[in-house]
Amino acid sequence: MEAVIRQESKDNRGLNISECLSDMRDLLMLLADGEFYSGSDLGRQLGISRAAVWKRIQRVTLELGVSVQSVPGKGYRLAQPLQLLSADAIQRAFPALPVYVYESIGSTNDQAKSLLASARSPMVVLAEHQSKGRGRRGREWVSPFAQNLCLSYVWPVTKGLSQVDGLSLVVGLAVLRAIKRVSDINVQLKWPNDVLVDGRKVAGILLELVGDPLELCHVIIGIGVNLNMQESFGGIDQEWTSLAKECGADVDRELFAQVVMEELEGYLEKQKNSGFKSMRAEWLAEHAWQGRRVLLQIGKDSVVGKLVGVGEKGEVCLLVDGEERKYLGGELSLRLQDDS
Ligand code: BTN
Repeated sequence: MEAVIRQESKDNRGLNISECLSDMRDLLMLLADGEFYSGSDLGRQLGISRAAVWKRIQRVTLELGVSVQSVPGKGYRLAQPLQLLSADAIQRAFPALPVYVYESIGSTNDQAKSLLASARSPMVVLAEHQSKGRGRRGREWVSPFAQNLCLSYVWPVTKGLSQVDGLSLVVGLAVLRAIKRVSDINVQLKWPNDVLVDGRKVAGILLELVGDPLELCHVIIGIGVNLNMQESFGGIDQEWTSLAKECGADVDRELFAQVVMEELEGYLEKQKNSGFKSMRAEWLAEHAWQGRRVLLQIGKDSVVGKLVGVGEKGEVCLLVDGEERKYLGGELSLRLQDDS
């Protein structure tokens, strides 16, 4: 079994994130149970003044997106109790898989790429917080500390590049199944791999191919799922929801991480052995926009048509002027064109 580490990294100002975080982490650990603590209590336990406690509370809110309530006469408490991931528990559940858990990292996808130089694959990288989380098409992916799931799974491509045909759709299915296993939320899939609840995004997936396709290469499967993030968290420029918002109760992040990893490993095995075509019907049964009129953005161009399904390689299929057309590629994006 590989060592499980919580490693340091630098943020974009060159600061050592672990050092910055350890101050805030100590405070968060004291507040983690969601009970009230007075400023002087916190100050005594942290060895700092009440004014310094207040400053640290502000940093926790601004830098980590964690909401802290301040009530005169009672003190401070977290708006939601925090549950940190236990690297040991995840490692025990997946004894053959190298597991890396970080408190804060730029991006788990980037970290997975760096680890590839020295670590065995497949492997999984998780983080409580990403300072440079990335989404599809150059977008940012933001997530408050210890509230959501930020995971990258490194999958070796051993059977040629056809092994990745339709992969992003298959990963979407794995995430959807995981959500269905822990909740009764009505989740659906949007091509290529968004997971939606009533049109609002609850999970996103970013796949990156690294290495030489003629030799051994790997897919970094980046998965972000909004678990316990609450309405008060701003800074997201699209309609979103979280499992906690939908269920009305916090989700066990540790359990969810394990369920996603189980589903992912099961679906990746099917993908390797039988390809996306064997799961195409299953994907279509979960397709949010089947039969809807959509606009497909292709770089600067766009096309409008009826969304009639997906092809065997995971292409999106549109009916345009009576003719079925198939499109594939990472830079494509869909949006609904009307209330069809
Ligand atoms: C998207 O819908 O735009 C894709 C979002 C992918 C976010 C995840 S979080 C874990 C991994 N690390 C990243 O920087 N991005 C992915």
